[in-house]
Amino acid sequence: MKVLVTEPILPSAIERLEQNFEVEVGKRGEYFEESALAKAAATFDGMLTMLSNPVTTEVLSSSVSLKVIANYAVGFNNIDLETAGKLGIRVANTPGVLTESTAEIALALLLGASRRTTEAEASIRNNQFDGWDPLGFVGMEIFGARLGIVGMGRIGMAFARRAAACGMEIFYHNRNRVEPWIEKELGATFVPDLHKMLPEIDALSLHCPLTSRTHHLIGREELDLLPEHAIVVNTARGEVIDEEALADALHNKVIAGAGLDVYEKEPSIHSRLLSAPGTLLLPHIGSATRRSRQAMADLATGAIISVLSGRPDETIPNLVTRSS
Ligand code: DGY
Repeated sequence: MKVLVTEPILPSAIERLEQNFEVEVGKRGEYFEESALAKAAATFDGMLTMLSNPVTTEVLSSSVSLKVIANYAVGFNNIDLETAGKLGIRVANTPGVLTESTAEIALALLLGASRRTTEAEASIRNNQFDGWDPLGFVGMEIFGARLGIVGMGRIGMAFARRAAACGMEIFYHNRNRVEPWIEKELGATFVPDLHKMLPEIDALSLHCPLTSRTHHLIGREELDLLPEHAIVVNTARGEVIDEEALADALHNKVIAGAGLDVYEKEPSIHSRLLSAPGTLLLPHIGSATRRSRQAMADLATGAIISVLSGRPDETIPNLVTRSS
């Protein structure tokens, strides 16, 4: 059987697949376009895809022999699950193994944006450091600050744990309230109405999946509700924030700063966001640790091997679509 890995990943993961199948590895960027992916889908039994690969209805409908797609990510908003389900194509993801790495990046973004490390570091590199400055780069201390988390899943909780350890007071907005013992452990207060939470917090961090309900969840109205000193952190998906509204809010000092790892139209970034003050911008590296990437590779390759060797769906823990 033939498996396509849409771009290079850890060599050990490719080798694992090669022990079982004929494997083709695409070049980076080769399958960013729907048409290229649709052409490929017609000839493979399995695909290991990235979140930058649009696995649309067109791609899935082109497939003749495709049985499994393993997305090298926990998020799978790049895949049309409904069509995959209808066509009996199994979709797998990599849950649980990038929780801590992503929570770490969220913390780095929160700290960096709150303490203005981008501007402060740039001043050193631009030879502008003229000694301790009583007025220089005064930012927000996160100790004692109020944090609002949107999306209290695995990553939201891991981030809340870190923030609580830094002395933050935690509030959260989620579709469902989490178990009382988790609220107790995190010292977290559930706020059912997002609009009521926003004026009360000093920092907002997004950890929800991208769905039709969360697309542009944070827009102009929501940004206006935040206090002027607020910091916004996004390690979820760029489309959860209206990037244009965020750029305006930063330029107009509606909020103080933003730490972002994800963008609406990756890899391009809104030009006014690039020039906005108070921003710390990272190139989608939430899961970029050796441990997470190895575990992601194990989960993704494991799902492909399991499905193509005929193991029953119930025994494959990371499937998000199953046979009906
Ligand atoms: C994911 O897994 O969804 C991240 O965005 C990339 O690791």
